[in-house]
Amino acid sequence: MSHADDHKGTRRDFLYYATGGAAAVTTGVAVWPLVNQMNPSADVRAQSSIRVDVADIVVGSQITVKWLGKPVFIRRRTEEEIAQARADNDAALVDHLARNDNLDATLSADDQNRAMDDTGEWLVMMGVCTHLGCVPLGDGSGDFGGWYCPCHGSHYDTSGRIRKGPAPRNLPVPVAEFVDETTIKLG
Ligand code: FES
Repeated sequence: MSHADDHKGTRRDFLYYATGGAAAVTTGVAVWPLVNQMNPSADVRAQSSIRVDVADIVVGSQITVKWLGKPVFIRRRTEEEIAQARADNDAALVDHLARNDNLDATLSADDQNRAMDDTGEWLVMMGVCTHLGCVPLGDGSGDFGGWYCPCHGSHYDTSGRIRKGPAPRNLPVPVAEFVDETTIKLG
C-alpha cells in the first residue's frame, strides 16, 4: 500500500460509534490491507495526527475512528475489564510484548504497559486483527471478554492481547496521548 493510500481519509476521519455493538458487527468481516498495516512510517505518522473527542464515551463502551486509513478502537473500560486484564498478566499469553508504540518495544504485555493511563480506564488500539487484517468485533466479544475476530477465530482479551486462535500478536497500541481531559491525540 502506498503512502498516498495511507493518507486517504486521514483528516475526514470520524466514523462510527460502536457502543451498541451493531456497528462493529457490520465491520467484522472487513479486510484491511496487510502491507504496512500495523506500522505506518514515522513521516506518515507525523503528518497525520488527529484529535478525538472522547467526552461522550461512557464507561463500558468504545468508539472506532479511522486513522491513517485504518480503524482505531478507543475503549473506556469498566473496573471489571481492567481487573480481568491485570489478573491475566500472568496467564499463558501468546505474545509477551506490550506492542505499545508509546513505550519501549521490549516491555512485557502487562496490561499496565498497554493502557493509556495509570487507572487503566482507557485502552486505545489499532482495530486490525494481527492474523490477516480483519476488524475484530468488540464490546466483550470472544472467549476472553474482549474482542473477537470471526474471520478465522482469534480471541483477544480485555487488554487486546491475543489469547486463542491464529493471530500471532497483540493488537498494537498506536502513538496516543491525552492533550486535555476529553481529547485524545492519535499520532
Ligand atoms: S484475520 Fe482475524 S483471525 Fe484471521
